[in-house]
This record gives sequence, C-alpha cells and structure tokens, in this order.
Amino acid sequence: MYNEIDLDIIDINSELPAEEPSRQYYFMAKCRRWVKDFEQKNGRFPKACVTTFGCQMNARDSEKLTGILENIGYQVTDSEEADFVIYNTCTVRENANNKVYGRLGYLNAYKKTHPHMKIALCGCMMQEPHVAQRIQKSYPFVDLVFGTHNLYKFPELLASALEADKMVIELWEGTEQIVEELPVERKYTFKSGVNIMFGCNNFCSYCIVPYVRGRERSRSPKDILREVKQLARDGVVEIMLLGQNVNSYGKTLKEPITFAELLTEIEKIDEIKRIRFMTSHPKDLSLELIRVMASSKKICNHLHLPMQSGSSRILEKMNRRYTKEQYLDLAGRLREAIPHLSLTTDIIVGFPGETEEDFEDTMDVVRKVGFDSAFTFIYSKRTGTPAASMEDQIPEEIVKNRFDRLLREVQEISAQRAKRLTGQVRTILVEEVNSHDPSLVTGRLGNNSVVHIPGDASMIGTFVDVTLEECKGFYYYGKPITTA
Ligand code: 5AD
Ligand code: SF4
Repeated sequence: MYNEIDLDIIDINSELPAEEPSRQYYFMAKCRRWVKDFEQKNGRFPKACVTTFGCQMNARDSEKLTGILENIGYQVTDSEEADFVIYNTCTVRENANNKVYGRLGYLNAYKKTHPHMKIALCGCMMQEPHVAQRIQKSYPFVDLVFGTHNLYKFPELLASALEADKMVIELWEGTEQIVEELPVERKYTFKSGVNIMFGCNNFCSYCIVPYVRGRERSRSPKDILREVKQLARDGVVEIMLLGQNVNSYGKTLKEPITFAELLTEIEKIDEIKRIRFMTSHPKDLSLELIRVMASSKKICNHLHLPMQSGSSRILEKMNRRYTKEQYLDLAGRLREAIPHLSLTTDIIVGFPGETEEDFEDTMDVVRKVGFDSAFTFIYSKRTGTPAASMEDQIPEEIVKNRFDRLLREVQEISAQRAKRLTGQVRTILVEEVNSHDPSLVTGRLGNNSVVHIPGDASMIGTFVDVTLEECKGFYYYGKPITTA
C-alpha cells in the first residue's frame, strides 16, 4: 500500500490536528479503535465493500477509499454482504444514476436483516442537488453521503457515521484544495493510475462533469513525480496519468509547465516502462505533445481523443471548440508522426438538433480516421447543462437507428484495423489469469489491445514478447516467444 500509516502511534485523546492530512490520520486512528471494539465483540474484523461506477478517475478514487479502509482495519471484500458498503457513483449519463437507485433497493433488503450495517454514497452523482434531496427523502437507510470535493475527508466522515444514528451528509460546492499523502490500495501491483489534475473548465454543453468535479486544478509536478517514483519503487512498471483534460495540465500552476514537459520528466524514471494518459481534448493537443509522443520510448502508442461528433455545426453547439476539418487534420498529423498509433474515441449520437446530415458527417469522420475503437453513447439529457434546455431533442427511435448504424460501422472498422497486426511480434504486459480459461493469461499491447496467451499467474506483471496468432475482432490469441 502506498503511504501506509502507523495509526497505533496516534493518540486519539490528544488535540485534534488542524492541518491535513494529519487531521485525517487522527480520524483513521479513531475508526481503528472502533474496528478493534467490533473485532472484540464479534470475533472477526468488519468487512467493507467499495463498489465503483464510471470512469478511471472514479476507479482511482476508489483505490483511495480502499486504502483508507484497509489502513483502519476493515477486511475489504467484493461482496456487498458486508458491514460497510460504499458506492462511488458516476452521473455522466442518466443510466448510471438509475443503476445506483436500483442497487440501493437490494442493499436496503440486506440491511434490514443486518441493522448494524452502514451504507455510504459518494462521487459525482452526489454533487447534484436533486440527487442528495432524493436520497434524504426516499433512501433514509443510507448512513453517509459525501461528494467529490471532500473525498479526502473520508476518515473524518466515516468516524461521524459510525457514531451517528442518522444520515451524515456533507457536500461541498467546490474546493481549491488537493490533499496529498493519504493511503491508497492499488488494484494491480504492477500498474497504477496517477491523478495529475482534477476537474474540468471546458463546459461542453452536454456534460455534467464541470458541475460535479469543479474547476480545473493541476497537482504540482513535484508531487506527481514523487508519487510516480514511489510507485516505481513499489514495483509499478506502467502508469496512467489521469485528468479530464490532460492537455491543459499545468497551465494554472504558479510555475506553469506543459503536459509534454511533465511526460518528459516522467520518462526519466527508469523503472517506469510504459506511460499512458487519459483524456485528451482535441482543442488543446499541442504539436509539442505529438513530438514528445513520437520520440518517446515509453509513452504508449495509444491516444484516446474524443471527437463527440463529426459535424462542425453540432461541435459548435457542443462547445467543443474545433471543427470537423480540424479534427481530421489532427488525426492525420498524429497518424503520420506516430507509427502504429492506435486512435480511439468517444462519440455521442442524438445531440439536440442533430440532423441526418450531421450524423453522416460523424460517419464520414469515422470512416476517414479509421478508429481502432470507439465508445459510442446515446445522448443523455443532464439537468443543469445548457444542452438539456436546447430545443429539438431527437426522438428515441431516430437516435436508436443512428446509434445502431454507427456501432456497426465502428465495429467493422476496428476489426479490420486489429487484423493488420495478425502474425506480428509485439510485447504485452501480462495483467491477470484469464477468468474463463485458467490455462491462459491476459495482457495488453502498448496500443491497449487485449491479448490472451498460454501461461500462469507467475507471469503477472511481466513483459512478454508474443506472436499475435489470431485476431478475434477486439482481442488476439497469441504465443509467447521469450519472457523478459
Ligand atoms: N450524454 C451522452 N454521453 C455523454 N458523455 C458525456 N456526457 C454525456 C451525455 N450527456 C460521454 C462523452 C465523454 C464520455 C466520457 O462520456 O462522449 O467523452
Ligand atoms: Fe465533460 Fe467536455 Fe470536460 Fe470532457 S472536456 S469532462 S466532455 S466538459
């Protein structure tokens, strides 16, 4: 675990520290006392389950929640039949919210037979005022609600919830603060996400993220490099730099630094062999970054570059600040500069006012760029965003029809592109034993494609050169050549 803290040396009868993160260590020690009492009474440690919805940022936040719970003494489990269950929620599309409401029903049923159980909700969905109101009104069995800005206060909030007999709610509208040095439990030993910035300033007209994650804040390069070096010492070989818009990293720091410069610094850390990042906004992607990617030995040949729509008219209504032609030009430059680059994207279908012609523009870009893969989304109306009040919302059946056509096109193109590597030798980082067939292990190429090869658990976390024998559309079957 990164930043394991010796809680037993903290005196919880002493004065509460005012500074962070010491204040949170104090509350962790307090919760540890509660855990020990639980263990004495019940003859076992309490179990905790962290369930994550949504993106890589949320996954990373969940690793922080898990790190704190483990440090306190909870036994972390995947089963929601636990003493403490926390949902780290997403709200980027409406169906993410519906999933949470649905699952809360099941949790309530379990809690009825286990009344000591505590249920907590955090993350993006909680930052929406109407959600917090609904939880209070219709889900009174929830014990703790907090948001994205005060996640670092989890130990303090947990301590309150363990003592309280009514719902503890703490939601902040925003924060300037970035608290470092809290424990983190990584899901994988050999790879890790690293936050480089929080929030987003772009206000794409359909997107709720700027409202729930707040304004853009970059971590200092010093803190990021310290964390990456520590991860490297712990055996991490691949890192994923995380931010809503990594290309604008560093612009607001006292001593501004570009994202490309940050990458160059990280590249110097010997033990780190692969560097990934996510997400890039086309409007901020610099020529400097393309140059750095092209000359790097470690930055993976994968770029996720959400285009959202291929129609300049819709892009303007989306407030994306680039045109169809600019996106095509950028994709062309990237492909030219970086050999074997895998370009992936996000596309929204059915944005208000989207005509058949606009949709054809999207299909045109899809064909011209030839994405290696694309996440396709049906536009979801998010309360409070400018697009939600735009006229001309598109009828469901038209959206569904376009969505199906787009999906077919995207899948066909990505299968064609994937096939091009068949027979070639490439390096994979082995991630896990295959869940369907234990005689196989599963790894990823630099371009992020999945490869299954014969092997066993001892190979996890190692780089293996493989021949890509058979392409199955989205993944490959391969054979190892040598083990590095
Ligand atoms: N409706 C549908 N898709 C959305 N996304 C963001 N907001 C919405 C919305 N309101 C998609 C975008 C973004 C991805 C993370 O989610 O494509 O890139
Ligand atoms: Fe949302 Fe646009 Fe920010 Fe991405 S860049 S998080 S789509 S507002």
